[in-house]
Amino acid sequence: MPKLQLTLAIIKPHAVKNPVALSYIRNVIKNNFVVLKTKRMILDAEAAGSFYEEHVEKFFYNRLVTFMASGSIDLHIMGHTHAVEVWRKLLGPTKVYKAQFQEPYCLRGMFGLSDTRNVAHGSDSLASAEREIKFFFPEFSLYNWYTNDEIRYR
Ligand code: PPS
Repeated sequence: MPKLQLTLAIIKPHAVKNPVALSYIRNVIKNNFVVLKTKRMILDAEAAGSFYEEHVEKFFYNRLVTFMASGSIDLHIMGHTHAVEVWRKLLGPTKVYKAQFQEPYCLRGMFGLSDTRNVAHGSDSLASAEREIKFFFPEFSLYNWYTNDEIRYR
């Protein structure tokens, strides 16, 4: 039985509004991951602030929070044997200028507009993935899926 890791993808508001980007991103997700849960929502500023609280001291915090609360976002809980790494690789560098010059065919290289509007978020570790999945999907039982940092695929 294959064992999978979980990660959380957040498709950011500008990409949700762009039908070409959204359809391309959805195909990339479908072709690379088992999607366990999907939800579209609009974050209020308080929830966005709380989600990004680790960046509260950074100069871009207010800009990031305001942007993430500016429109619909799509959330996907995704499984893959190396989910965290593979999703971040498909996204490419956080900084869009780097993405465009170094990896033009990554999602951020193709659809990124700025360091804030960089297409999508990806958990940066298994621990972050667990925290972020709980944040957005409190009803989702990680216990049913995780065994020693991995999940049972059933
Ligand atoms: S990482 O990979 O999580 O370490 O990336 P990091 O550079 O720490 O960025 C975390 C989130 O902050 C946003 N970001 C910015 N927004 C505005 N301006 C600037 N300069 C900037 N730099 C980083 C970036 O979009 C990341 O958001 P998420 O949603 O985590 O991708």
